Amino acid sequence: MSKNGSIPRFADEYEDDDDVELVDEPDLKENLRSFFIRLSISLILLACVSGAVIWSFVNGESGTSSPEHHRDASKNFSIFIDQYSKKEGLYITTYSLPEGSNADQPKQEEYQSFWFQSDTNKTLVHQITPTVTIYAFEHHAYWYDTSSTPAKCTFDTNMNYSTYIKNLGMTNLERHHSEYEETHNGEKVFVYQGNPHEVLLTNVNQTAFLVTAYADATTGALLAWDTYFTSESDASEMVFKTSYEYPHMTPAKPDPSYFVTPTECSP
Ligand SMILES: *[C@@H]1O[C@H](CO)[C@@H](O)[C@H](O)[C@H]1NC(C)=O
Ligand SMILES: *[C@@H]1O[C@H](CO)[C@@H](O)[C@H](O)[C@H]1NC(C)=O
Ligand SMILES: *[C@@H]1O[C@H](CO)[C@@H](O)[C@H](O)[C@H]1NC(C)=O
Ligand SMILES: *[C@@H]1O[C@H](CO)[C@@H](O)[C@H](O)[C@H]1NC(C)=O
Repeated sequence: MSKNGSIPRFADEYEDDDDVELVDEPDLKENLRSFFIRLSISLILLACVSGAVIWSFVNGESGTSSPEHHRDASKNFSIFIDQYSKKEGLYITTYSLPEGSNADQPKQEEYQSFWFQSDTNKTLVHQITPTVTIYAFEHHAYWYDTSSTPAKCTFDTNMNYSTYIKNLGMTNLERHHSEYEETHNGEKVFVYQGNPHEVLLTNVNQTAFLVTAYADATTGALLAWDTYFTSESDASEMVFKTSYEYPHMTPAKPDPSYFVTPTECSP
């Protein structure tokens, strides 16, 4: 009996020892494994964080950039979205060749331009010419003119967000081209036509006969538009075409700080 009992006890002890050993060994292995798992997770997290830091560094100053809203611009393209182009926008004026001129290139002028549009808030800031920028809001606008010192800011109750865009001839953009897509300065675009009869620009006092807008085929952002003018008068210097080009237009909400009017502007 006692032998019988001692065997189980021995067996118990043995089993206990064995248990301890068996438990101990996997514990060590498990500890090592979980240590390595934690180490790899830390390394992965570290890689993610440094990746994110590098990404935000590469993507420039805006740490708080809003999500981009891409849309299919192959049909139903509209200018009425949130989008902005901070820099590298261009305003290009092309003059008609004077009658009997033997120059082979028409005269062209190129200036910087920017565009900040919050369709959500019905607000647009557009650098029209080197010296004139419009701050257009839902019910009014300011014309900010830096051609004189001090800069001048004019409050205008007859101008507003929707009227300004209408005067660009881009309220209703229509696609007449049968081509699926074209390229404009190396970008894949869809070509749309605006309404030249609505064009009423402050910087060009001529009649428009064609407005062509270019939509980014990938993001649906407004990349550029050209306005063509008739030259019905005999004036020496007639504009043939004005172009605004924003190759880096981002279809996202611009930072609200861009809509803050300069200090010279007060109603
Ligand atoms: C066109 O776009 C407008 C506004 O973005 C939307 O309300 C309308 O449903 C769209 N139409 C089609 C056919 O997608
Ligand atoms: C609209 O204006 C409000 C108040 O200035 C601002 O907080 C918000 O971000 C703006 N929304 C967009 C889409 O610009
Ligand atoms: C914008 O201005 C036009 C012309 O002055 C006016 O007819 C229109 O009602 C204005 N829109 C808003 C939203 O105030
Ligand atoms: C635009 O042209 C018309 C007619 O040629 C003229 O009466 C008007 O003063 C011009 N406006 C500007 C801003 O040059």
